[in-house]
Amino acid sequence: MTPSCTHALELASMLANIGPGDEVILPSYNFTSAATAVTKFGATPVFVDVEFDTKGINLSKARDAITSKTKAISWVNYAGTAPDIEGLQNLAKEFNLLLIEDNAHGLGSTYKGKPLGSFGDFATQSFHATKNIQCGEGGALVVNNPIYIDRAEIIREKGTDRSKFIRGEVQKYQWVDQGSSYLLAETLAAQLLGQLENFTKIHDRREKIFHKYYDSLSHLSESSLFEIHFVRNLDLHRAHMFYLVAKNRKIRDGLIDRLDRLGIKSTFHYQSLASSIRGKTYYTKEELLHESERLSYQLLRLPLYYSLSEKEQDLVIEAVLGYKFET
Ligand SMILES: Cc1ncc(COP(=O)(O)O)c(C=O)c1O
Repeated sequence: MTPSCTHALELASMLANIGPGDEVILPSYNFTSAATAVTKFGATPVFVDVEFDTKGINLSKARDAITSKTKAISWVNYAGTAPDIEGLQNLAKEFNLLLIEDNAHGLGSTYKGKPLGSFGDFATQSFHATKNIQCGEGGALVVNNPIYIDRAEIIREKGTDRSKFIRGEVQKYQWVDQGSSYLLAETLAAQLLGQLENFTKIHDRREKIFHKYYDSLSHLSESSLFEIHFVRNLDLHRAHMFYLVAKNRKIRDGLIDRLDRLGIKSTFHYQSLASSIRGKTYYTKEELLHESERLSYQLLRLPLYYSLSEKEQDLVIEAVLGYKFET
């Protein structure tokens, strides 16, 4: 357990010994923590575009970005949907790279029948208040490559072997390595346990809401305003979000305004990191990362949370269906 997914990403960077002179490839349509976990240790983030259908890292762009300095590829299972993970694993083998899987959106979802979060050398989870299972602020690092387990315990315990001491494996604990304090408070862990005990109940409700949105709105794909796309593969995803992609930014912003006026909170999502103030200091090419740009300006998320009532969801659906865009 860690205090957040951001801390878990930092811990993964420390375990991977990511430092000055190293490059880490990551999708530009992404949360900032993926980049700060790299730059914090003096390494360079290399932004690549995402693919249209999964919103995840574009495998061929990732391959093109590999150089002799590349140390790792970090990717996101966006909305609980995997990109081509098998392709990423092959790439990692071919070029001897580490894989960091940000599974903040994907707890309980699968890829080819196996749980998301089980594929990278390191996988990270978020239990932030916005996630399906949450304790306000919280996270976890899943160490799938066992050679890193011992050191992970040491780094998160302020560089000491205190975990071994607690298990009775050493007589006293001392400073042995690099470290920080990356522990989750027990009170938050207790809150999280309550959520995990209700995992099925929470997800059944979320999936019900997701499917109602899908059934009521998927015909909008034939309209000139929005596209609704979900998952190329038939793997399970656990209804982390329901998004629409508007045909252009004005249509998206117009719908956010309309919903806002009706008291309904809808939200855009990531800004393409390569175009952010800090990101531009690393991404200096003229060429825009088109898919990431498009999603920054055209994607919108509808309310999806456990306590959203049927009546409230009907109002959201009605408001979306009643939206007329005038140029
Ligand atoms: C993909 C992804 N990774 C990491 C984070 C950061 O998570 P946390 O707030 O737990 O640090 C987020 C935040 O929403 C996210 O969307």
